[in-house]
Amino acid sequence: MSTTAKTYPWAAQFGGRSVTFRCMRAEDQELFKSFIRSLPHVDNFYLLVDVHNDQDIARWMQRMESGQTVSVIALDNERMIGYGNLHANEPPWISHVGEIRMCVAGAHRGRGLGRTLAKEVFAMARARGLEKIWARMASSQDSAQKVFHRLGFHTEARLSGFVKNQDGLTEDLVIMSYDAGELWEL
Ligand SMILES: CC(C)(COP(=O)(O)OP(=O)(O)OC[C@H]1O[C@@H](n2cnc3c(N)ncnc32)[C@H](O)[C@@H]1OP(=O)(O)O)[C@@H](O)C(=O)NCCC(=O)NCCS
Repeated sequence: MSTTAKTYPWAAQFGGRSVTFRCMRAEDQELFKSFIRSLPHVDNFYLLVDVHNDQDIARWMQRMESGQTVSVIALDNERMIGYGNLHANEPPWISHVGEIRMCVAGAHRGRGLGRTLAKEVFAMARARGLEKIWARMASSQDSAQKVFHRLGFHTEARLSGFVKNQDGLTEDLVIMSYDAGELWEL
């Protein structure tokens, strides 16, 4: 499936290092598993899967193979350092909407990788004819909200008490979105 404006793989410099971007493939399962399991617990806490459960990871890869999810990954010397994920929906009433999730390894943050991954996800979304991208996060994830605001997202809704955080405390769920009516370029 051709989902990006650029031809993968392509590379660019980030913080003086060459970073390669390409679509994640089924054979990347082990690479992906070791990346996601190397992240601190807090970075995976709000995922909808248990990253330490092999079956959950296998299902994640199956969704990718079926095209329901598309992922672009960032690699530094063959080592995965980030991913941007777009989860699309099949039912017609919601097929114009996709959910973005992304994560960059802590040591590589603040160098524009997140923006680049988001841009790639937008290209994938545009190629699939999506009109709206959304992201969800806990209200205490201040940095993530700031990052998404910087990327052009706005807060769409705040669902009261929808989250239990790592400490078992209740928080709001923040829904942010990015519309096709806005500029689909970062
Ligand atoms: C969100 C995340 C992917 C951003 O990755 P990143 O590589 O650090 O992002 P970038 O360097 O491209 O920064 C993107 C923009 O956000 C801004 N930004 C980055 N970190 C920020 C922070 N902590 N606070 C405020 N703004 C921040 C940058 O200045 C940049 O804006 P600009 O280009 O207009 O200057 C990364 O912080 C992460 O993996 N967090 C943990 C997982 C997560 O929370 N994911 C989001 C929920 S799906």
